[in-house]
Amino acid sequence: MVQINLPSNSKVQKGTYYKDKTYSKNIRKVNVYRWDPSSGENPRIDTYEMDMDNCPSKVLDLLNKIKNEIDSSLAYRRSCSHGVCGSCAMNIDGKNGLACTKAHAEIKGDINIYPLPHLKVKKDLIGDLSGLYKQYESIEPWLKTNTKVEDTEIIQSKKDREKLDGAYECIMCACCSTSCPSYWWNGDKYLGPAVLLQAYRWIVDSRDDERKERLKKVADELKLYRCHTIMNCTSACPKGLNPAKAIAELKKMLATS
Ligand code: SF4
Ligand code: SF4
Ligand code: FES
Repeated sequence: MVQINLPSNSKVQKGTYYKDKTYSKNIRKVNVYRWDPSSGENPRIDTYEMDMDNCPSKVLDLLNKIKNEIDSSLAYRRSCSHGVCGSCAMNIDGKNGLACTKAHAEIKGDINIYPLPHLKVKKDLIGDLSGLYKQYESIEPWLKTNTKVEDTEIIQSKKDREKLDGAYECIMCACCSTSCPSYWWNGDKYLGPAVLLQAYRWIVDSRDDERKERLKKVADELKLYRCHTIMNCTSACPKGLNPAKAIAELKKMLATS
């Protein structure tokens, strides 16, 4: 029988326990994954007792409070705080989501916060998305037209515009791709739901003249057909989008073209 052991420096250890100093009667424990590659130490889980009477409602507010008031060394990404930029995506209470839109009141018991799964960790809650961005670049996510249209709008019918609904809203947060088992195991070759949804967005855009070439580019055993319709991606999307359906549409287009 094959025996697989994790390298000892990858084992997550118990970290520091930060006791509440405010004497609050409304305390919750927040467990946060910590890892600093420059320290040479193992990853650890630090626990913070949080005064919930003085904390706004979202998980991002908890992290901001930890960083501002308890432990300034905590690293995480955020920008808009309104579910628009996608940068605060992380694994919260066992599910991928946006820290700025997830209410901590929805979580029962201790609040567990980890980086997005199956990414290399850069530091603490920051996953390395460079591979995903390279894949995004590979689908050439910009309008390609054969006609010169520098000064005028390219008109779309209402019906054609509606074809972009469910795709243009994607904020590239990567919650879907990092919840997809096929992407976990083949992330270097399989494009994954986030990038395939974007590929679909340009393929169905009536203003684009490279539909055929774009379709041909994704028609690949590894890039597209590694999707086995497990649907984790769709249930993970914090914007309520359905990347699995877009992938199925791409397969249908290829089967009928
Ligand atoms: S439907 Fe496809 S893309 Fe979505 S989680 Fe499943 S395998 Fe991944
Ligand atoms: S489809 Fe949803 S989960 Fe995936 S990148 Fe776009 S917004 Fe994020
Ligand atoms: S901070 Fe922009 S989506 Fe959360």
